[in-house]
Amino acid sequence: MNNILLIRNLHVAVENGNSKKEIIKGLNLEGHGGEIHLVMGPNGSGKSTLALSIMGHPRYGILDGEIKFENEKINHLSPDERAKRGIFLAFQHPEEVEGVRIIDYLRMLVEKVRKIDRKESYDFVVARAKEVWFREEDLNRYINVGFSGGERKRFEILQAMLLDPKLVILDEPDSGADVDSLSLISLKLREMRESGKGILLITHYGRILQHIEKKRIKVHIMRDGKIVMSGGEELVDRIEKEGFAKIFEECGCNE
Ligand SMILES: Nc1ncnc2c1ncn2[C@@H]1O[C@H](COP(=O)(O)OP(=O)(O)OP(=O)(O)O)[C@@H](O)[C@H]1O
Ligand SMILES: [Mg+2]
Repeated sequence: MNNILLIRNLHVAVENGNSKKEIIKGLNLEGHGGEIHLVMGPNGSGKSTLALSIMGHPRYGILDGEIKFENEKINHLSPDERAKRGIFLAFQHPEEVEGVRIIDYLRMLVEKVRKIDRKESYDFVVARAKEVWFREEDLNRYINVGFSGGERKRFEILQAMLLDPKLVILDEPDSGADVDSLSLISLKLREMRESGKGILLITHYGRILQHIEKKRIKVHIMRDGKIVMSGGEELVDRIEKEGFAKIFEECGCNE
């Protein structure tokens, strides 16, 4: 199977002024196309930091270890170069971009990245946007300005659909989404998986998995910057029923 993501002994520190704080503390992860890897863990365990590190956010410096994408080490690549190679990150808290209209931004993306002709990009974007419930007139709005929680998440999914990356990282795409939006996002994740993409999904809840084939799901639990337990979809039920504290106690992961 094609190796999309390989992370070995990763240590990452966040830079704050002159001080550095280590947040990812020796993390290993391996994922292939067509798999969905779920990263779960308590608040503050480092899930978003992991996502931002894979994308190459300049604030998060790699102290040790390596991140490989399609067997190539990408530790030193800029976020832009990582995006060009086919990595996409949907943010936990998408930012508002005042003054930039959705339609202009998305047309620019598909023309530049997918090489869609200027004459066709408008219809291309509008058609895909409808699949995630954005009407044509909605696309004249500024990016995320005044968006509801669910709209922000659907807009992140739309960008992933339009860019057609090889690795899709989604940081809590379910937070703030209502039950119908959640079902739609789950279906879109299934489509992405079926087209062979690798998916790294950060979430607190199993409901986002409702349309995904159970045997395709691999679950990893993070605690204090490390993956302390991995398993199948049954781990999600366990987390929801028992909570992290009890699981950590039982596995001796508290030390
Ligand atoms: N830019 C930053 N400056 C200072 N501390 C940071 C920064 N980014 C992350 N941290 C700290 O790193 C730790 C991990 O944060 P992170 O956002 O990765 O957690 P998380 O697992 O995504 O949590 P949540 O489930 O609440 O989203 C936290 O203690 C957080 O305060
Ligand atoms: Mg987070």
